[in-house]
Amino acid sequence: MLKTHSCGELRKEHVGKKVTLAGWVDRRRDHGGLIFIDLRDREGIVQVAFNPEVSEASHKVADRMRSEYVVRVSGEVARRPRGTENPKLPTGEVEIIAQEAEILNPSKTPPFYVNEDVEVEENLRLKYRYLDLRRPRMRESMMLRHQVVKFIRDFLDANGFIEIETPILIKSTPEGARDYLVPSRLHPGKFYALPQSPQQLKQLLMVAGMEKYYQIARCFRDEDTRADRQPEFTQLDLEMSFVEEEDILCLMEELFVSLVAAVKPQMRVLTPFPRLSYAEVLDRYGTDKPDLRFGMEIKDLSDIVAKSSFSIFAEAVASGGKVKGICAPGCADYTRRQLEELNELARSCGAGGLVTISLGDSAGGGLDGLSMEKVRSAAAKFLTTDEVKEMARRLEAKMGDLLLVVAGEAKVVNLALGELRQEMGARLKLAEPNTLAFAYIKNFPLFRWDEEAGRWDSEHHPFTKPWDEDIPLIDTDPGKVRSKHYDMVCNGYEIGGGSLRIHTAELQRKVFRLLGYRDEEIEERFGHMLEAFEYGAPPHGGIALGIDRIVMLLAGRETIREVIAFPKTQSALDLTFNAPSPVSEAQLAELHIELREE
Ligand code: AMO
Repeated sequence: MLKTHSCGELRKEHVGKKVTLAGWVDRRRDHGGLIFIDLRDREGIVQVAFNPEVSEASHKVADRMRSEYVVRVSGEVARRPRGTENPKLPTGEVEIIAQEAEILNPSKTPPFYVNEDVEVEENLRLKYRYLDLRRPRMRESMMLRHQVVKFIRDFLDANGFIEIETPILIKSTPEGARDYLVPSRLHPGKFYALPQSPQQLKQLLMVAGMEKYYQIARCFRDEDTRADRQPEFTQLDLEMSFVEEEDILCLMEELFVSLVAAVKPQMRVLTPFPRLSYAEVLDRYGTDKPDLRFGMEIKDLSDIVAKSSFSIFAEAVASGGKVKGICAPGCADYTRRQLEELNELARSCGAGGLVTISLGDSAGGGLDGLSMEKVRSAAAKFLTTDEVKEMARRLEAKMGDLLLVVAGEAKVVNLALGELRQEMGARLKLAEPNTLAFAYIKNFPLFRWDEEAGRWDSEHHPFTKPWDEDIPLIDTDPGKVRSKHYDMVCNGYEIGGGSLRIHTAELQRKVFRLLGYRDEEIEERFGHMLEAFEYGAPPHGGIALGIDRIVMLLAGRETIREVIAFPKTQSALDLTFNAPSPVSEAQLAELHIELREE
């Protein structure tokens, strides 16, 4: 190699050694006679001193070096003079006394500081991603991602899984998003679809007798991009035959506990992972992906205010709705403006409004001394002391706290309070950043009614198995059918989902029919699955975990773009390559495609 050592590995044990290093100029300082270069490679940074009395030629070369030049230096490792050590650098006790130096390639002045962890506009970072990836934060993300994937592979290998690749050019595998299509040159007018997941393929691998399969799989979904969503993303996709639900859930729990211990030992994983029902989490946290690092649970107050003279509460209960609330500790002194912000948030979720009840202005203290003079609320004059006390008690409030109450249709009330809980949790910093609170959410309904399309749709995907005892309900009351699906959530994110699968053609056909597919369509789109199920399909189940989201959580980042080497923007653009981009007429003609003016 062009180098003998990496910059980051040099320590005082290397003193006296002659080394050759190659890397990028992180920083250059000219101290009159002496020039110092901080030389950087993937493993870290080391200081190189160019003294004209040691080597005039190398000093001259160093004089021409600038930030991000690629250079190669040979010299002797020396202890830094007393008092000039840099305790912030792992190599800070030593420096290289340069004897030879060459510039391997100069660099233009970069469009942003590569050597400083400063905020840079994201589009600029994405355009020059190869420079952005040189920065320590991104390098750490890439290293962590590598460690995570390697750990997963080793873990699954040790547990008897084999990794099998599945095709990218295939047919639509529905997961509820739009497909990316690829036109076929050889078959005019026909298209491949990129897989939204390898769902059907992994099921076919179970029919094929592979028993325990996994894949680090790329998936493609043409849907709106968000902080935790990309048009193409990576799953750990996994499937097992002859299993029950708990076999899969326990294995994944073991995977995560050992993964975090190996790659992020400073993070705490709460165990065992609770198994919660979908209905329960909506009721208690207002979302199916709750952040369980803090409490602030939503409580039902309907019985307390059903007869209240505050008509908004009483009418909500009378019309079959709910009155529910949460308690924001120590927030009784929130200003009118702060309260208005919370009100806005509730409205944006479809709630009619938010009733805030401030319990006095001094923190702490029991509720015994509570009187209406101390209560600040738009509803105060309609509420009795007993009603306020009862609500406060149920919400486990004390004096100085703020009650946030929403009345209306249960679905909207839960949604609004779920958002308020998340917002207050963030404002009050209730979620410990170094804790990972995983949970499994179960007992989802199998189908949901799609109002717009006027038909039943799968809550997850059509291959999910219903509860055995609910199968007759598919004909009579589809909304009541419970599914064998489970989600894995962590710190407010859905990081995985899976299920036991249907493995008989008869049941699978019944589900497709309910979803509104005509028999010809079923044959055309899914005939291969139905046929496969008639050749001895074993009972099977699996799960897929979002690798990007997992690495994001482990890295403590806010978006998955921070842990993907070349992500797309919010509007699905690749700024490094400028994709998507127009193609030539000739290419279109070859694909039998004519563009339509919009
Ligand atoms: P699902 O659609 O729930 O399940 O996907 C599994 C996990 O993949 C991640 N994920 C995404 N990550 C980034 N960007 C996206 N656009 C995106 N979409 C999903 C999430 C999610 O929990 N075939 C089933 C799994 C199965 O049943 O085994 C499936 O794909 O973390």
